[in-house]
Amino acid sequence: MAATRKTVVFGAGNADADLMFVGEAPGASEDEQGIPFVGRAGKLLEKLLEEIGLARSEVFICNVLKCRPPGNRDPLPAEIDNCQDYLHRQVELIEPTVICTLGNFSTKLLRGEQTGITRLHGQPEVLTLGRRAVRLYPIYHPAAALYTPRMLETLREDFTRLPELLALGAPEQPQLEVPAIEIEEMEEMPEIEPAEVEGQTSGGQTSEIDQLGLF
Ligand code: URA
Repeated sequence: MAATRKTVVFGAGNADADLMFVGEAPGASEDEQGIPFVGRAGKLLEKLLEEIGLARSEVFICNVLKCRPPGNRDPLPAEIDNCQDYLHRQVELIEPTVICTLGNFSTKLLRGEQTGITRLHGQPEVLTLGRRAVRLYPIYHPAAALYTPRMLETLREDFTRLPELLALGAPEQPQLEVPAIEIEEMEEMPEIEPAEVEGQTSGGQTSEIDQLGLF
């Protein structure tokens, strides 16, 4: 993809956000501007956010893939694999309490399982990603809702549950295992031979340095 993309679309928004959205991959407009969700799907996402009293600047938005797949085709398994460490690191750094996965690709990747968005949308679950537990909230991808009014209705309904989910705060965090530190027995200090003491020569004679009165 590096050969066909124009920009790397890493992610944008509040790096300290409680709410993070994960889409699929940049499209043409995103590739042009280097910012995720700036095309038609992005405008819808912004509108839905506004309707629940949130500004785009308050959340963090990124994608599974950081580069536009040629011709907007679906991401390939190898591409998802190559990009997934970036997403996991973004989650680790931003520490969101709620991650809203938009559509199938991000939902399947973060859940590590193949159940589709039609079955999962609107159902929050607590998921441990790396060392942190987050509330995962899968919803339809806004691009899909652009063309299907019923889907838009469902997406809007699912969006209205976001404020109450955010109000719950972070889920209980997993207990970090503190590695037991083994205190090794200190090695016995080696005996210092009188000859090794600075400024002294063997036989208890005073060295030249000492005779100069410098020490
Ligand atoms: N669709 C996505 O999944 N991501 C974008 O950034 C734009 C459209």
